[in-house]
Amino acid sequence: MTYDFDKQIDRSETSSIKYDLRNTIFGTGEVLPMWVADMDFETPDFIRDAVKARAEHPIYGYTFRSDSYFQAQIDWFKKQYNWEIEKDWIVFSPGIVPALNMAVLALTNRGDKIIVQPPVYFPFFTAVSNHNRELVNNELIREEGTYRMNFDQLEEQAVDARMLILCNPHNPVGRSWRREELDKLADICVRHNLLVISDEIHSDLVLPGHKHTPFACVHPGLKSSLLTMHAASKTFNLAGLATSSVIIEDETLRDQFKQFVDFLHVGMGNIFGAVATETAFREGGEWHKQMLRYVSENVNYFTDQLSVKLPQLKVFKPEATYMVWLDFSAFGLDDDALKSYIIKEAGLGLNAGIDFGSGGSGFMRINLACPRQTVALAVEKLILAFSKLS
Ligand SMILES: Cc1ncc(COP(=O)(O)O)c(C=O)c1O
Repeated sequence: MTYDFDKQIDRSETSSIKYDLRNTIFGTGEVLPMWVADMDFETPDFIRDAVKARAEHPIYGYTFRSDSYFQAQIDWFKKQYNWEIEKDWIVFSPGIVPALNMAVLALTNRGDKIIVQPPVYFPFFTAVSNHNRELVNNELIREEGTYRMNFDQLEEQAVDARMLILCNPHNPVGRSWRREELDKLADICVRHNLLVISDEIHSDLVLPGHKHTPFACVHPGLKSSLLTMHAASKTFNLAGLATSSVIIEDETLRDQFKQFVDFLHVGMGNIFGAVATETAFREGGEWHKQMLRYVSENVNYFTDQLSVKLPQLKVFKPEATYMVWLDFSAFGLDDDALKSYIIKEAGLGLNAGIDFGSGGSGFMRINLACPRQTVALAVEKLILAFSKLS
């Protein structure tokens, strides 16, 4: 079966953050919204059918996740990454951001130093600072149109830090970290006894030509210190169903995290999230492949058009994720002026780079998980607005 990713779907008045909060976020409902990380593609039909079938049962009472839910996830990891996990290692969380916050609260103490690698997904910062832990920035190094980790600085920072939050693959710079990079990182983490959260929510969005390596598969020494966070939500467009997993092999660490989830009573989840997630992992292989091909063509189209028609805009071609990181610094606008110019002159709703922390000034992030026609419209809008400043 061939899936139709070109289909335009009206998402207005569906309580969609991306569409229905435009006035609140951008001060106007007129921008083309290409910001928050969900897709404008249909959630696949086989998932909708499974959810509808469950919805037909007239009772939506208290629930738990069945063995088949866990098996679907175990099989997905084996098939996609050759990573063998066990049912007991999987702990439910109603989202990765809640899981990050719970992990910080459950496993670290006030004042502990926690390392992040900006520019990075901004809830990493609040997961540390909201709980009176100390944020340590190990800023990525920008080099020849890509980014790499600053291992020398990390080596020093790790000496008295308690935890590292890794984004693997990395949002927003789009890196799918290579095995050699992860090996080096793991060596530092293990030598310095760091707890590690590896946020792998984008792992199933590694684009053709690249390969995801779960951090858990890199170094045996990580076994006692690693939490891997994962969900079907980004990949299959299920974010509104608030269902994700934290995979923890070490029993002591897992009990500590799980006790916190239980303590807050947020471990039940919801019936539809469980049905959708299981179906995605069990039946989603072919849709997943086609979606990645389509997104990758969107990325190629966007990058090729802009490199020719607006070469002053530096586009960081992602290896993973459907987000593209854009450097507008050649246009000489400060961050407030850039934000307002993108809204008012380009008519686009994007994420401001500055929100992703140090290294984000002068940048914007655009979401290309949408029909090609929308990508083409965004390209047109960027060219029209920014050619005037060239
Ligand atoms: C790296 C990363 N982690 C987590 C999330 C959000 O996870 P959740 O919606 O499950 O809280 C996102 C969403 O964009 C993300 O990019």
